[in-house]
This record gives sequence, structure tokens and C-alpha cells, in this order.
Amino acid sequence: MTGAPREDDVLGSEALPGEDRLDASLRPARLEEFVGQDRVRRQLELVLTGARQRGQAADHVLLSGAPGLGKTTLAAIVAAEVGASFRATSGPAIERPGDLAAILTGLEPGDVLFLDEVHRLPRTVEEVLYPAMEDYQLDIVIGKGPGARSIRLDLPRFTLVGATTRTGLISSPLRDRFGFSAHLEHYEVAELERIVTRSAGLLSVPIAGDAAVEIASRSRGTPRIANRLLRRVRDVAEVEGDGQVDLALARRALELFDVDELGLDRLDRRVLEALVDRFGGGPVGLTTLATAVTEEPDTLEDAVEPFLLRCGLLQRTPRGRIATLGAYAHLGRSAPSPGAGVDPRRPGAVPLFGPEGEPSRE
Ligand SMILES: Nc1ncnc2c1ncn2[C@@H]1O[C@H](COP(=O)(O)OP(=O)(O)O)[C@@H](O)[C@H]1O
Ligand SMILES: [Mg+2]
Repeated sequence: MTGAPREDDVLGSEALPGEDRLDASLRPARLEEFVGQDRVRRQLELVLTGARQRGQAADHVLLSGAPGLGKTTLAAIVAAEVGASFRATSGPAIERPGDLAAILTGLEPGDVLFLDEVHRLPRTVEEVLYPAMEDYQLDIVIGKGPGARSIRLDLPRFTLVGATTRTGLISSPLRDRFGFSAHLEHYEVAELERIVTRSAGLLSVPIAGDAAVEIASRSRGTPRIANRLLRRVRDVAEVEGDGQVDLALARRALELFDVDELGLDRLDRRVLEALVDRFGGGPVGLTTLATAVTEEPDTLEDAVEPFLLRCGLLQRTPRGRIATLGAYAHLGRSAPSPGAGVDPRRPGAVPLFGPEGEPSRE
């Protein structure tokens, strides 16, 4: 295993654009600095300590969870904790088996290879990855047609860290080849408060405790959002004030940037408002709802609905989306009168839809 990470391979080098680079500057470098996810942290610590004691590359690690919860950060921490080099790539960047072969044959013993968005790896590439993960061997085909022959190369023992936002999309043969899988959950406000306070320290922003709590509680359980909101608040503090962040300033700044008390942004609120004001609370189909707010259905489904669902402001049913009583309360609208027709929002009403899960799009 080699010592210091190769600079150009470390995420957070100059290659990353804008906010990604800022993300990198706030990334905890070691496991002990990583806030929250206590169970995952303890498990990972055991896995890494074991590998270190045996002087071997750690088992392959699969990290899943919503964007911004710390998957890339943990991957880099795996390398740092075992004192190995960190190399990063992503599923969509590897188009052909040859691309993967080039990466794998360039690895040195003990290296940590981070494969982001591993669910987007092409199937043909995935098949080359199996023996590489399992036996550290690479089968490549040289030439075409009758003259083609297959050769087998030995690879150094490496650790693959895969990350995905969609565990369900990973094929089971691939999932089975990871020795350790961890799912990251959204963070508690108290944990996000620690992250905000830590980041404020790194950015040299003087921040009051209650202001950190305010930012944390509007961060949708997501460290990346917490750090982003902190930077926006800092902008306002520096431009309009003396750089100090107190509660009043934090609230003013967050309002200025359209982040409400729950962490909803403008689009989130527009969707809820359309649902409540134009469709009587639903049920309404995804496409219709998307058209009403002039957005793509995919945007709604991927970027808006998960958080509204998590907050209990929205429900998905086979007949479409419906606003909950909580949505009415959050928008300051009076709740619809019960009794008219079958209203699944009515307390005690028999649900019209099956168990929670992935109902159809419409
Ligand atoms: N547990 C944590 N403690 C402190 N900061 C964190 C934590 N998890 C994530 N972050 C910060 O949030 C940002 C996004 O994390 P990242 O690892 O890029 O998320 P992901 O890869 O899951 O999308 C980074 O700036 C990172 O510093
Ligand atoms: Mg990432």
C-alpha cells in the first residue's frame, strides 16, 4: 500500500466544478470526524481495522443513500483510514469493458477505487467487474471474429467502493460481491447542527448556536444542503452585516433564498400549491401536476416528491398524488371539508391504495 493519496485522483482537486469543490473543502477526512450514521461508522471501523491488522486490502464496500448524505465522503475516508490511494470514477463514465480494464490494470496493491453511480454501469462492463472483484482477475478478449482470443490478467488486490442512490437498481450478482453494504439515512437536526457548526469553523464564520439549529432544521436531513445553506447565510452576513451569523440574520437570509421553515424551496411550494389550489388536493396524475408547474415529470418525481413524501405533505396513490392535511396546514389553507365523496385524507378513512412503496406513475 502506498502512503499519501495521489493528488490528481482525490475528489476535491481542481477538476471539480463550483459547489462540488466547496463540498470537498468541507469533507471530513477521517472516520472520527464524520458526524452521525453511528451504526455505519462503527461497522466500517471494524471492517477497516480488520483489514489494516491483516495488512490486506479491505473488503469491497457498497454505500447507498440519497444524494448529499456522505457517500463520496465515506469512500475517501475508507482510503484514508487504511492509508491507501483513492481513485474515483463513475458508472456512466465507463462505457466499455476496455475502459474498466484500463482503470483496473492501473491500480496498485491496496488502492481504493471509488465507483460512483454504480447502478449505471453498462451490463457488459459489469460482467468484467465480477471476476475482478471476486478473484482479482481480468478476462479480456483481444481481436474479433474467429481469431479472437481471451486472455486473463492478474490484478492487484484492491478495494472497490461503490455508491448508489438507487439500491433497487443494482443487479443481485453485483450486490452479492460487496463484502460490506451500508445504507445512509437522513440526518437528525442535532447531527446537522454539529455539521453546520463544524463547517462554520472551517469557513471561519462566527455563528450563534440557535442560528446553527435554524439552518440545520431547514436542511432536509442532508449535510450537503446544510453546508449550502450555511454558505448562503454567510453571503448575507458578509454583505449586509459584519459577518456574524445570529438567529435573526439566518432567518432573514433563508427567507431571501426561498427556503421555508421545513426546508421547502419555491418549486416544492409551487407543486403543493398547484395540488391544493388547482386540483382540490388531488388525486391528480404526475404528468398533469408537472404540466401545471411547467416542469418535467422526472424532475417532480426525483427532486420534489421524495421530500414532500418524507415530510408527510404528499401521498402517492394509484389514482394520483394527493395533498395531506399537513400540506394544507403548511400552506396556511383551511382543510377541505370532510364528507364530500371519498376523501382518503379524512381521519379513519379506509386507504384507497396499497402499502407504501412504488405506486405507478399516474
Ligand atoms: N457525516 C457527515 N459529517 C460531516 N459532513 C458531511 C457528512 N456527510 C456529508 N457531509 C458533507 O456533505 C457534503 C456532501 O457529501 P457527499 O459525500 O458528497 O455526499 P454524496 O456522495 O452521498 O452525495 C460534503 O461537503 C460533506 O462534507
Ligand atoms: Mg457523491
